Amino acid sequence: MVHIKDRAIARHSRIMSVGVYRPAREVPNSEIIEAIDSSDEWIKERSGIHSRRIAGDDESVVSMSVAAARTALTDAGISAEQLGAVICATVTYPFQTPSAATDIAMQLGAPKVPAFDISAACAGFCYGVGLASDMVRGGSADYVLLIGVEKLSDFTDPTDRGTAFIFADGAGAVVIGPSAEPGIGPTIWGSDATARDAIMMEPSWVDLRDPDSLGWPDIKMQGQTVFRWAVYQMAPVAQEALAAAGISAQELDAFIPHQANERIIDAMAKAMDLPTEVAIARDIRTSGNTSAASIPLAMDTLYRQGQIKSGDTALLIGFGAGLVYAAQVVQLP
Ligand code: UT7
Repeated sequence: MVHIKDRAIARHSRIMSVGVYRPAREVPNSEIIEAIDSSDEWIKERSGIHSRRIAGDDESVVSMSVAAARTALTDAGISAEQLGAVICATVTYPFQTPSAATDIAMQLGAPKVPAFDISAACAGFCYGVGLASDMVRGGSADYVLLIGVEKLSDFTDPTDRGTAFIFADGAGAVVIGPSAEPGIGPTIWGSDATARDAIMMEPSWVDLRDPDSLGWPDIKMQGQTVFRWAVYQMAPVAQEALAAAGISAQELDAFIPHQANERIIDAMAKAMDLPTEVAIARDIRTSGNTSAASIPLAMDTLYRQGQIKSGDTALLIGFGAGLVYAAQVVQLP
């Protein structure tokens, strides 16, 4: 039998740095409400959102990613050539192929690095953390650049009452690399594909060829279905991630969930009985729901608010279209 040589690397991984990009234009609720017959009060009360950032024509999935990635690379002290992979989590890159990650890698000056996108919607960042961590631990990369990015404004109907006030734009990037101590706990992930029609981008690209097509593909969401799923199903997943990492809620410094709705964040924190000292990310108030970008953006905001520091222990959880979810405990960079 032929002997296949394998990399016999068994090492730990950690998040080394985080960088973000927030679009310049801040859009308050007052600019959204007329088209959806809503009010500032309703949006704040039902979602927690006060304002969001919406990218301009000069701010693309790739440009936002490159900006966030440059900060993450500088803070990690890693050059683009040292990267073993570039992973981009997004559902709003407007080209089916080639990937956003290859363009990002090229613009960072690393056009030879393995690069690919993952489509796991609002769970994309946590899917990516699990993937990158396993790549580093398994030896297929020393340093992985992971980006969560969305320009949801390109795929949101500004007259849709169920989505227009929620979705927004932005990018967050992390470098994941080797570590002497475990810096990323086991990823608890899965899907509930029987409910995959609860959030859909429709019609398909192919349907667009039909002259009677419904028009541009926008994201449609059965808000209440997703809300109930998130509130009742996601706290147990978060608790499983804590148990898998051998961490109790009392030992946590921060809870950084996907920023879907402030009421979902509150319900999860309550269901997990999080101590009041645990910092809870509420970046949704000024960033809206940026899908794959929401967790690194929320992490950045907690740093800027002085609520977390390097070395703190945080619980991350992402959930969304699929329906898919992923959670893990991490040591903050
Ligand atoms: O990121 C991916 C995962 N996504 C999520 O987790 C999102 C989960 N869902 C949600 O966050 C919430 O379902 C929404 C924020 C989208 C909607 O809040 P809701 O409390 O579920 O609203 P609803 O659809 O149950 O509507 C409640 C009421 C209805 O009026 P009646 O029937 O009670 O008179 C709606 O017609 O609010 C009305 N309504 C609105 N009113 C003002 C629905 N949308 C609006 C609106 N402005 N935009």
